Formats: sequence, C-alpha cells, structure tokens
Amino acid sequence: MTRRRPLELRARLAALESSGVWLRPRQEMIHRIKGTQDLLPGQIEKWQFLEQKARDLFARYGYSEIRTPIFEETELFSRSIGTETDIVQKEMYTFIDKGEKSLTLRPEGTAPVVRACIENNLFAGSGATKLFYMGPMFRYERPQKGRFRQFYQIGAEVLGSDSPDVDAEVIEMLVQFLQEVEILSYQVQINSIGCHQCRPQYLAALREKIAGILPRLCGDCNRRAATNPLRVLDCKVEEDQPYINTLPSTVDSLCEVCRDHFLAVRKALEKQEIRYQINSRLVRGLDYYEKTTFEITSDHLGAQNALVGGGRYDGLSQCIGGPEVCGFGFALGQERFVLALPEKDYSGGRLQIYLAPLGPECSEYAVALAARLRRQGVPTFLEFESRSLKAQLRQADRLGIPFALIFGLDELQRKEIQCRNMRTGSQTAISSDIESLLGWIRTRE
Ligand code: HAM
Repeated sequence: MTRRRPLELRARLAALESSGVWLRPRQEMIHRIKGTQDLLPGQIEKWQFLEQKARDLFARYGYSEIRTPIFEETELFSRSIGTETDIVQKEMYTFIDKGEKSLTLRPEGTAPVVRACIENNLFAGSGATKLFYMGPMFRYERPQKGRFRQFYQIGAEVLGSDSPDVDAEVIEMLVQFLQEVEILSYQVQINSIGCHQCRPQYLAALREKIAGILPRLCGDCNRRAATNPLRVLDCKVEEDQPYINTLPSTVDSLCEVCRDHFLAVRKALEKQEIRYQINSRLVRGLDYYEKTTFEITSDHLGAQNALVGGGRYDGLSQCIGGPEVCGFGFALGQERFVLALPEKDYSGGRLQIYLAPLGPECSEYAVALAARLRRQGVPTFLEFESRSLKAQLRQADRLGIPFALIFGLDELQRKEIQCRNMRTGSQTAISSDIESLLGWIRTRE
C-alpha cells in the first residue's frame, strides 16, 4: 500500500512533476554550426557601429534600404553567379523544400536585389535606383580568419545607369566610409574585364595561351581552364605565378566602349583624388560582371584580405528575365571590417543611471521611477532581485554605469534621493521629484 503524503507535499510534488523540472534527463550539449558565430554583447557594438555609419552615409548619397528574403529559388543564383563558379559548384546551401522546390540560402545580395527590383517594378521611374542592404549571407567555404559560412554583408546597388560616374561615385563613397569608421590602411584595386562584345575574343586568346602552359599549372587551374578560364587569372598558387603573369591581360583587350568607360572611371577617381591600383588579374568569383571590377583590400587581414568587392553587371537583369537595366554595386564583409576597426570604445547608448533601492519596501517606488526616467530618455538599470547596497554598487561598477540613485524608506519619507558619482564615490542628496532628478542627471551628461 502506498503511503499517503500530506496534502501540501502532494500538491508541491504534482507541481514539480507537471513543470517537468525533475524529470528531465541531462541532455548532450548542442553546439553552434562550424563557420558561424554568436555575436555577443561587448562585440556586437562594432557591428552596430558599422551599420549605423553605413545608414548615415548611404542616406547622404541618396540610397534607400531594401530587404530581400534569406532564401530564393536556386536558379536565381545559378543563372546569375554562373554554373561554373566555385560559389554555385561547391558553396551553396541548397535544399528541397516540402513543395519539392529547390531553394538556396542566399550566398550574396546582388541577384536578389535585382530580382526584387524587376518584380516590384522599381526601375519604372527615370534616373538611377539606389538601394542598400545589410544581412547574413551563406557560403559553404573552409572557415578561417575572416571567412565564415554565415557572414554579414553591407552592400549597395545602383541600377539604371551605365555612366562611369556611377562606378566612381560608389568607390568614392566607400573611401569616405573607410575614413568615417577610421580604417585608414587599405588599397583600392580596379580592373575592367570587358563586356559581351569584347570578352569572347579575349577568352579565345586566353584559352590558347593557357593551353600552352597548362602542364605547368595547378589542378584548380587545369579544371578552370576548361570551365571558366578567366578564373585562372585569380590563381594564388606561388609556383603558378611566373606562368600566369605571361597571360594576356583584360585591360589590353577591351573594345572601344569598354576602354572609354574604364578611362572615364579612372579620370573621375583621379579628380576626387582617390588613389587606386590597376590589377589586371582582378576577375572576381561571380560571372555577372562586365566592364569595371574592383576590390578594397587590407594588408592586416591575412589571406582573406578583401574588405569590399564589387563591380558593374549590365547584363544581370536580362539574365534573370528582366528588362535591359545596367547595374553597379559592392558588398563589404562586416566580419573583416570588425577585424580592421581601430580598438576603442564602441558602446554608444550606454546605461547612465543605476537605481539602488534599499530593501523590498522601496521596490514599487523604484519600478515607477525607472519607468519615468526611461520615458524621459534616460537609460536606467534596475535589478529585479532585492540586494544589499554593497552588492548593488558592485554591480553598477561592473556594468560601467556612471551614476547611482540610492534610496531607502527614510530618504523617500524626506522626499530625497542620494545621487552617487560611481567614479569618485561622492554623494549628494537631491529632491526626489522627477524635474530635480532630471536636472541633476542632465548637468552630468
Ligand atoms: P564578394 O566578393 O563575393 O561579392 O563578397 C563581397 C565581400 O563579402 C568580400 O569582399 C568579403 O569582404 C565578404 N565575404 C565574402 N565571402 C565571405 C565569407 N565566406 N566570410 C566572410 N566574408 C566574406 C559579392 O558578394 C557581390 N554580391 C558584391 C557586389 C555587389 N557586386 C556588385 N554588387
């Protein structure tokens, strides 16, 4: 026969049982996926700083924000980035959804932005459409410093103009961005890879030359020679370099239109006193580019040294079923910018006031005071648990909050609050009405 437990104990056991607390077996820890990061308080401030600076600057240049879905039809990327590229061949997160559709987590933002513009008829007005975006992208790459499988890009696209001034203005805006976030050590590299008119002849000449040196080149080059010969120029294998340097360069093989365009971009950059290097091997890893390509690199990032990549993509809209619309844009890697930022305090909107009620009898007053201060725009911290004054001041210190408002029942009866400067430890009694408190706080901002 089971012993009858007292009623109160039975109720407590039943509550525990229904909460599941004591019945749950200890489970194995689940970890984050390789190549991803948790962006934690203390680090996230740099991300927020970059995003805020970008929003402010892009607004000054007339860009509006666009947000596209994180997944798209796989064909959007295979058609635009190119079926023979590393991204499409090896790096996309592709899956079949429950409706048997092949979907892909976006590896980049340009094709989705152009798709969204076509679908929402954003090209309708005259003049250029200027859009910016920020958010996560996904590529199954080998993780290393500055290279992740989920990474964040901030990008901008200008659609509807083939003017070389667009190319120059975008690069000038990026140089301004670097200055405003205080990344002062970087190189701007530009190239022109021609257009659908002059590229076929160039590729024929390139293929012929590559065939002559193929046995000397690495396995990747041998594979690319057949599928995507332009990418042979991108080879980083040291032993290959003397041979690759003998290959014809894109800038020497441009048609008149591309040559004029490239010259005009260079002139416009020079007028703005923007220093650049021509890198005739800068072909980029996405097939949609025509004419100008560019990268901004930093020597402080190791192997993954590209802070920004971009270029012109005049044929992309048509390639995904849209009208003939020219485009130019870039994307910057936020993780790489975070690595390149100077070390300083990025915590902008930090807490200003710590409320230290002395005992649970003051907590109702504290909750009301916290709400009033926060409504007046004062960042205020209030602990949920009742704690000793010593523990509260220690917490205020740890959180780096500069001022504490201390009050017990005695102070509240006298309609006073002790205002403490946490740095110096000095304390002043101030009238507890909100105007006096706000006045005291504001004179210390
Ligand atoms: P992308 O060169 O592939 O271009 O990427 C742009 C930038 O994103 C790179 O320069 C780098 O900073 C960052 N990035 C790329 N892959 C990774 C990764 N696995 N981990 C961390 N950062 C990475 C594009 O994505 C084009 N959509 C840019 C563009 C916009 N062209 C015209 N408009």
